[in-house]
Amino acid sequence: MIVYLNGKFLPIEDASISVLDRGFIYGDGVYELIPVYRRQPFRLAQHLARLQGSLDGIRLANPHTESEWTSIVGEIIARQPFDDQGVYFQVTRGVAKRDHTFPKDVPATVFMMSNPLVTPSAEQIEHGVAVVTAEDNRWQRCDLKTISLIGNVLMRQLAADAGAVETVMFRDGHLTEASASNVLVAIGGGIVAPPKNQLILPGITYGAVWDFAREAGIPFDIRPVTKAEALAADEMWLTSSTKEVLAITTLDGQPFAGGKPGALFRKMHAVFQAHKPH
Ligand code: PDD
Repeated sequence: MIVYLNGKFLPIEDASISVLDRGFIYGDGVYELIPVYRRQPFRLAQHLARLQGSLDGIRLANPHTESEWTSIVGEIIARQPFDDQGVYFQVTRGVAKRDHTFPKDVPATVFMMSNPLVTPSAEQIEHGVAVVTAEDNRWQRCDLKTISLIGNVLMRQLAADAGAVETVMFRDGHLTEASASNVLVAIGGGIVAPPKNQLILPGITYGAVWDFAREAGIPFDIRPVTKAEALAADEMWLTSSTKEVLAITTLDGQPFAGGKPGALFRKMHAVFQAHKPH
């Protein structure tokens, strides 16, 4: 596999970084994951805008212009032998003697790779997936897509331990998101989603669903969702770049929303598929 590291394309076996990289030492960096359908990046501009927001949030200068990013992403896609891809890249605060303070005049480390895009199976789309729930104990800047993911990793493992795909989180009695997905609910024929504040990642798929739902005339309300409302909702969905839109049909080991994907999910799923680059 050919990856990109600091200006060069090279086989992954030959890509290496210093053990003093602040990404390794502090998790001091940000990342993006962009789905690519038939070699076309999906919502690239939105991903690059979110990257800028994450970089601003950690006070790290963007090492590339939007057109440079576009060409590096284009080249990594072109260098893979498969069409549907998940382009992952991260930017860290570079290599420096270990000291919490930002180093001066140190170039950022930029790493990019692309793996085959693994979207939900036909089985998962047809029958939905299982989740567990937990209290959200992560920090209060979950809007930044930082590579410091231990909070999310521990949350995801709770799901894995229970044979589920995701952990849906609540903070102070309100729905936030899942370990690597946003969570939307369906109530009374419309979609309801928590606001994009500092407690959730502003998902690009969430944004896409918002756009596509409006176009399809499906009501979409953005407002705080209480835990009680979420647990009593008609439907609950996960959204992410790899999960697209996926129905939750088991929650904490019990059937949820009748134990099968609901009517609004079926509609939204079809609308989403129709909008993907073909
Ligand atoms: N995860 N919330 C969290 C905490 C996430 O990590 C992600 C994405 C999302 C959904 O964002 P988007 O729709 O832009 O993919 C929400 C990616 C896929 C990951 O870390 O692999």
